[in-house]
Amino acid sequence: MPDRDPPLLLILGGTADAAGLARRLAAERPEIEVLTSLAGRVRDPKPLPGRVRIGGFGGAEGLADFLRQNRVALVVDATHPFAARISANARAACDAVGVPRLQIRRPEWPRHPDDRWIETDTTEEAARRLPATGNRAFLTVGIGELAPFADLPDVWCLVRVVDPPAAPLLAGPHLALAARGPFAEADDTALMRDHRIDVLVTKHAGGNATYGKIAAARKLGIPVLMIRRPPAEPGDTATPEAAMAWIAEKLENKAGRCPDPQGVAAPLTP
Ligand SMILES: NC(=O)c1ccc[n+]([C@@H]2O[C@H](COP(=O)([O-])OP(=O)(O)OC[C@H]3O[C@@H](n4cnc5c(N)ncnc54)[C@H](OP(=O)(O)O)[C@@H]3O)[C@@H](O)[C@H]2O)c1
Repeated sequence: MPDRDPPLLLILGGTADAAGLARRLAAERPEIEVLTSLAGRVRDPKPLPGRVRIGGFGGAEGLADFLRQNRVALVVDATHPFAARISANARAACDAVGVPRLQIRRPEWPRHPDDRWIETDTTEEAARRLPATGNRAFLTVGIGELAPFADLPDVWCLVRVVDPPAAPLLAGPHLALAARGPFAEADDTALMRDHRIDVLVTKHAGGNATYGKIAAARKLGIPVLMIRRPPAEPGDTATPEAAMAWIAEKLENKAGRCPDPQGVAAPLTP
């Protein structure tokens, strides 16, 4: 099947990296049609340049159908490093359909000698170790990962989430704080001091937008339960900065192929 003309690039998004890439493509490569896909977890996502679709695809097979039906030329998986399911689906779907795929991997946070990190393999392990580490925790693991912390004895939690929650987040004592990054070090230092936080719980996300809490914990001498990342999917990976070069190279390789004469700004299916 011929590619669309202009070529359609699918960004699997939901991160600052994905939004940054969509902005760069709009500014530097306006000839590429960009579609960002969001899972729909955030109530009121920030506006993005290009087209946006919201909601799951229906597993790897659903994503493969989507790629075929819309003649997607390239996929950039710019999802969060902990969004392992969609990344696995993207790999399976792209392999099945023969669409080149790049997974963006932002660098991990460097570990400073004064950092007091306790690394764990899972969120469950972090929750198990929490009561022995502190009494007043700052939980920044995302609303989908709170179950292991639901009812910890003797630990008060400040829980930062994106949207104001409709129901209590934990059975145990806590305060919900709805806020959207990026978060500055000075603000996170003040927040942790005001709430007398003595332990931070976080995923090892990397990136600048949420580094403030890491620097704040170091400054305050607070231990950090740091949940390690799942491994990247096999295949091409790049830092956010290097993604533009990968896109340029892949589109050049495709340039010799016959474009679709009727494919201009074709509607998406489904
Ligand atoms: N996990 C985190 O800590 C975190 C933090 C910040 C932002 N996010 C963003 O939030 C979204 C959901 O994260 P998650 O950890 O729940 O993902 P996940 O566990 O890897 O994915 C669960 C399911 O959600 C759907 N999905 C996920 N990302 C999607 C996307 N960009 N477009 C369309 N469907 C998507 C897929 O449904 P179908 O199988 O039906 O296609 C996927 O199977 C991701 O896009 C991620 O970038 C996640």
